[in-house]
Amino acid sequence: MRLALLGPPGAGKGTQAARICEAFGLLHLSSGDLLRAEKLKNTAMGKKIRDYIDNGRFVPDELMIGIMRSKLVSLVRQGFVLDGFPRTISQAKALTEMLAALERPLTQVINLAVDPAVLTRRFEGRRVCPVCLSVYHVDLMPPQTDGICDIDGAALVIRPDDMPAVVRTRIETYHQTISPLLAYYREAGLLLDVDASGGVDQVWMAIEARLARQGVKG
Ligand code: AP5
Ligand code: MG
Repeated sequence: MRLALLGPPGAGKGTQAARICEAFGLLHLSSGDLLRAEKLKNTAMGKKIRDYIDNGRFVPDELMIGIMRSKLVSLVRQGFVLDGFPRTISQAKALTEMLAALERPLTQVINLAVDPAVLTRRFEGRRVCPVCLSVYHVDLMPPQTDGICDIDGAALVIRPDDMPAVVRTRIETYHQTISPLLAYYREAGLLLDVDASGGVDQVWMAIEARLARQGVKG
């Protein structure tokens, strides 16, 4: 299986990617996590990336495609879930070409559609582990001990781009760019729409059911 997850910021792409990978033995590749890792290196490229992501703007296509290209080759054998890539038509076309060259095209693209009213609550309570990058929510997906990662005991943090003003820019950018991307994958016969407004387990069951209808079972 080679999947890509689409959906607005806060839709649950990271949360559901982790579930899918666990159920199907796939590798999770999050473009946001890759960029945040580059940002922390504080290199010239890291500083450039910081400027984009901390302000809620997309990094340039060329940069994003270059980062993904270097990672994809090692993932294709096992299968993967892409989370946050592609986000533009140029990225989608580059991905199609990269995977065609490896003779491993995408098998499904899952579109997590969310009622905008539920997104605010998800952002407000999100906490992430700076070490293993696990995602929690203070009420909806709390860790066993307040503020502490279940997996490695690190203190959980708030993402800098979860500030309300930045969230607004991220959501606007999403709405400005998503329609052609959905059309591209719908035309290719790859798009599976899933309602992602319910709870984490409910959304997971909807994804599982949607994949099962395609003949894919964990
Ligand atoms: P990225 O890190 O990908 O951010 P995003 O797309 O804005 O998505 P999020 O990570 O905020 O949300 P998510 O859908 O993963 O939700 P999550 O599972 O955490 O990208 C960050 C930035 O990098 C971008 O803004 C851009 O600048 C840059 N970038 C990345 N990719 C790029 C690209 N391809 N091109 C150019 N630039 C790029 O869940 C959210 C919260 O809700 C959590 O607290 C979670 O616990 C909770 N939750 C999840 N599901 C549910 C549920 N069903 N019910 C209740 N709570 C839930
Ligand atoms: Mg995410």
